[in-house]
Amino acid sequence: QGRRPLVAGNWKMNGLRESVGTVEAVRRALSPQLAERIDVLICPPSTLIASCVAAAEGSSIAIGGQNLHAKPSGAFTGSISAEMLADLGARYVIVGHSERRAYHNETDDGVHAKALAARRAGLCGIICVGETREEREEGRTLDIVRAQLAIGVPKGATGADTVIAYEPVWAIGTGLTPTPADVAEVHASLREMLGQLIGAEAQAVRILYGGSVKPGNARELMAVENVDGALVGGASLVADDFLGIAAAY
Ligand code: G3H
Repeated sequence: QGRRPLVAGNWKMNGLRESVGTVEAVRRALSPQLAERIDVLICPPSTLIASCVAAAEGSSIAIGGQNLHAKPSGAFTGSISAEMLADLGARYVIVGHSERRAYHNETDDGVHAKALAARRAGLCGIICVGETREEREEGRTLDIVRAQLAIGVPKGATGADTVIAYEPVWAIGTGLTPTPADVAEVHASLREMLGQLIGAEAQAVRILYGGSVKPGNARELMAVENVDGALVGGASLVADDFLGIAAAY
């Protein structure tokens, strides 16, 4: 495939200053051999980005944001721009996570604007797509994720500035996962859709799987064709578990 795997941790709204120790623990335990094969990313809450960047400095571990505002600056109380994230040393930012879509009314158009903003600031945007349980039961999974992708992905997206994360909403934090065959079907469909959107560059864009990835199921999920890494929630809060997932590579 030629795509370099990316194992990304999303801490969500978890972590106080002592949690920077988790980055230090990952750094200590990440073998040079593994670091040579894969990219490792940790997305802590915004409050910890600067200290996590400092803790990761000089290692291959990247730090990212979990959300951003599409505008570079302005009267948007409480929001953080792509430029601010980049200024802190973040290299990635998650865009359109299903929790943002569900609890903050984020739309596909909003996701598109945020992905453009990420690129503007030199960040790699991790655009999240995924169906709800109801949508899956209705057999609409592929329609839903393809539509989310078609609107969300900016024109001219490249493997350097864009990552896609397929996260079935019903698999997030539930311990449930799709079968490898289901994951393969969705990722193949996403790759094909990307091809329609950005042409040959689609082959360079990494497509992660997220939703209840644990050390025990990572090997099976990461072995699926067109799965180029993982977006890990709960298990990324514990260094050993996160590293156990990375060890699938
Ligand atoms: O961004 C991460 C995902 O929402 C997955 O969360 O690993 O806790 O299921 P989870």
